[in-house]
Amino acid sequence: MGTDVIEVERLTKVFGTGPAATTVLRDVTFRVAPGEIFAVVGPSGAGKSTLAHCLNLLERPTSGRVAIGGQELAGLRAGELRAARRRIGTVFQSSSLLLRRTAAQNVALPLKYLGVTRTESRARVAELLDRVGLADKADHYPYQLSGGQRQRVGIARALALRPKVLLSDEATSGLDPDSTAQYLDLLRNVRDELGLAVVLITHEMDTIVRVADSAARLDHGVFAEQGRLVDLLADPDSELGGALRASGPAAVPSPGSVAVRLTYRGTTVPADWLGRVVLETGVPVSLLSASVQAVAGVSVGTVTVGVSDGDAARVTAAARRLGLQPDDAGTREAVPA
Ligand SMILES: Nc1ncnc2c1ncn2[C@@H]1O[C@H](COP(=O)(O)OP(=O)(O)O)[C@@H](O)[C@H]1O
Ligand SMILES: [Mg+2]
Repeated sequence: MGTDVIEVERLTKVFGTGPAATTVLRDVTFRVAPGEIFAVVGPSGAGKSTLAHCLNLLERPTSGRVAIGGQELAGLRAGELRAARRRIGTVFQSSSLLLRRTAAQNVALPLKYLGVTRTESRARVAELLDRVGLADKADHYPYQLSGGQRQRVGIARALALRPKVLLSDEATSGLDPDSTAQYLDLLRNVRDELGLAVVLITHEMDTIVRVADSAARLDHGVFAEQGRLVDLLADPDSELGGALRASGPAAVPSPGSVAVRLTYRGTTVPADWLGRVVLETGVPVSLLSASVQAVAGVSVGTVTVGVSDGDAARVTAAARRLGLQPDDAGTREAVPA
């Protein structure tokens, strides 16, 4: 059905039986298209890793449907399951690298099981390390790498088998802000270049606002809300939107900043436009207010962002390139200090 790489329908996962049975996921439904980053956010114990395990086939759903690349997983035999697993790359917390193997050996690991020749493997590993910016660290052991570098090795390894899906489970927890930013930029790059469907699992709100196209909030095994980031951000009733706004690319407008009013139609603007504007201009942008209405099934939003006076023109131009319309008056009123 459709072109989505990941299709999850009413996924329910129960551990244990009888009186000891615990429902960890209940009726979780979502889809992720090629080139889309879908974030799942929720506190510890919400069921995020269990969801990841159901996607990368380490766990079987108790009920519901999980399909990757149009292939439903429930019916697969062992051999087919192994093949299906290759289409999914996973990055976990930094501890998942083998400590007695070099960066290159860690990246080569998945290739070993495929019977790839030595020469092919060497070339592929070099290409992967280059892609994640660590060509010069091939012979380093994990303890010789920073936390951020280890996670980039993790991405290289996850990409070794040319997957269509990339899962990232709490891969940035414990990283400093710079390493986190680098990791997310890399995730965005590989998504763009390889057209991956990405599931980004995190308990950190502010990591998702930078890169996610859509997001869901997992609460006690249930998707309490989900939607496109652009709509969540603009929805005053959304708890996720509120948290995202509060932890946005820059929260507090400073004195001397101006308000820029922009409008968009949901179909013509990339869902992660705010993150893109920030990335492209390098200018901190604060979301001051937002509202969204559905008009004939299309979300039409009005957003007011605060930027420093000198940056307003650049931010407006970047937003315009992404399909947002600056308000007629050309915008600006001073933001009260
Ligand atoms: N194999 C398992 N058997 C029983 N309970 C489990 C198992 N795996 C996870 N759980 C339980 O499921 C709940 C969600 O765990 P998890 O998916 O790891 O959450 P998160 O990744 O959001 O912190 C927890 O209460 C955990 O104890
Ligand atoms: Mg977890």
